[in-house]
Amino acid sequence: MCGIIGYVGHRESSPTILKGLQRLEYRGYDSTGIALLDGNIQVYKKAGKVKDLAAYIANKPLHSHIGMGHTRWATHGIPNDINAHPHLSNSGKLAIIHNGIIENYNTLKQELLKKGYVFTSDTDTEILINFIEDIQLYNDCSLEEAVRLALHKVIGAYAIIIMSEELPNTLIAAKKSSPLVIGIGKDEFFIASDATPILEYTDQVVYLNDYEIAIIKDGQFFLSDSKNVPLTPYIQKLDMELEAIEKGGFEHFMLKEIFEQPTSIADCMRGRLDIAQKSIKLGGIEAYINQLICAPKITIVACGTSWLAGVVGEYVIEEFCRIPIKVEYASEFRYRNPIIKPGDIIIAISQSGETADTLAAIELAQAKGATVLSICNVVGSSIARTTQAGIYTHAGPEIGVASTKAFTAQITVLILLALSLAQQRKTIMQASFEELIDELANLPDKVKTMLQQECKIKGLANLFKDATNFLYLGRGYNYPVALEGALKLKELSYIHAEGYPAAEMKHGPIALIDENMPVVFIATQDRTYEKIISNIQEIKARKGKIIAIVTQGDERVKQLVDYVIEVPATHEALMPIISVIPLQLLAYYIAVEKGCNVDQPRNLAKSVTVE
Ligand code: F6R
Repeated sequence: MCGIIGYVGHRESSPTILKGLQRLEYRGYDSTGIALLDGNIQVYKKAGKVKDLAAYIANKPLHSHIGMGHTRWATHGIPNDINAHPHLSNSGKLAIIHNGIIENYNTLKQELLKKGYVFTSDTDTEILINFIEDIQLYNDCSLEEAVRLALHKVIGAYAIIIMSEELPNTLIAAKKSSPLVIGIGKDEFFIASDATPILEYTDQVVYLNDYEIAIIKDGQFFLSDSKNVPLTPYIQKLDMELEAIEKGGFEHFMLKEIFEQPTSIADCMRGRLDIAQKSIKLGGIEAYINQLICAPKITIVACGTSWLAGVVGEYVIEEFCRIPIKVEYASEFRYRNPIIKPGDIIIAISQSGETADTLAAIELAQAKGATVLSICNVVGSSIARTTQAGIYTHAGPEIGVASTKAFTAQITVLILLALSLAQQRKTIMQASFEELIDELANLPDKVKTMLQQECKIKGLANLFKDATNFLYLGRGYNYPVALEGALKLKELSYIHAEGYPAAEMKHGPIALIDENMPVVFIATQDRTYEKIISNIQEIKARKGKIIAIVTQGDERVKQLVDYVIEVPATHEALMPIISVIPLQLLAYYIAVEKGCNVDQPRNLAKSVTVE
């Protein structure tokens, strides 16, 4: 949700910043801008993508060793040239880029209007930079002090970088609820929303905490808290390879990430699943394992695809551990006064580890005395740092905006957790436990086999690309998969799609069925198989076009439906990890057929750092 990058050092800053913006573009891509400081501040900004900005500035004689850039996901004000960041203060001497929302912007604006300030954009960000300028003028203080004083009065979320014409070698950065990381290179510094634009220059980083202010000044880095108490930065080594954030020959990041799943699932289990010993070890939550084993209930909070992984988690944990699970949308949980008592256990699931609603849900649960554990993909992310302990999914960077490999890794972690708890609670027979361990070990190969059906799915995508509606139906473990299939199609191809429990279909949605309605059934052989065959017949009787995801070798469903995609057999609890893959590919190829921007679907952003 907006990507920001600042640079100061020995390089030409504009190409460095543009390259960084390309890496951050998945966070927001409706407008972009850059500010460079060379005597005075020059700002170039445009509605559109980073490539449009690059073309716009290509022939301009730019020269500077300090600057900053922004790629926007609009919150206040439509995406146009004026609302794009950076924003200048009224004097033109201060520039700001911002990721977040200033909730009390209107109050601040009214104060500033009375003092004669004028605003050219509709953004909350332009108000913030003028508020800072006003404080500096009024108090005759340093810019750093003005930033600190201003942020005391700001309500909302921010990751900001500020540059001043009067401070030619200085960048000031601060954060609350939006991520910010400082990269420390040799005679150069980077400030960015995440580590992806920093990785090729340095692996030394400092993740800022809320209310901290970082100042890069004359080649030195200073960190302090909101009361101006100096802090010692905690420098970490990045554990990420450059190849992981590049397309590696694939046309889109999403396709690369779909095809990475055999590896990402294996990486997720590495060091945790011991096939020889038939055991599971989850080091990250070791200190909380007894609390988990004795938990009378567990609440899972998450958003979007991560929430759907949570629903699979609910089914698996309830089945094997007999612990009641409640899966909540973080955005609802945080505002509905949930019943959480000291000692309760909450598990937050998030790919990015930055989702604002999930973070707020965690903070609420912690304030009520709960123990909050996390399942995150991004190491060092805000959620990973805020929660008491957690399990990383280790799926590697996910750049495509639609989540794919993070989803299957989240489910893998939830299954590992369920089995580990079940064994210790003695709610699973040893033979079943061992069978599941073996099946888990086979998963990467089965996913690889599944991916070989890419061409067939591409053909189906071509047949169905002009459909205007889709229904996805599944039962049991495949019900959340149906929801995820529908979500993937909507977000990538803008085709309206609904996911439903297959049996619920006859309580309403069946009215939608006619010969123009494609229905995707996830009908693998599990305990609901006979029932789902009846549901297929109900659709068939009403002339719906059926695509069915079936277990390899299934002949019965094949005879009933129009098209089948076969998936390798596995234990039903593990099936979502395999059965979701054809749905990812179907959504991907339909979007490609329709000419949609697969990696950056309209109106979306990778990490939703606003509520
Ligand atoms: C859909 C998708 C989103 C995210 C949601 C939560 O493909 O990616 O629905 O799952 O925004 O994001 P995280 O997992 O980063 O908290």
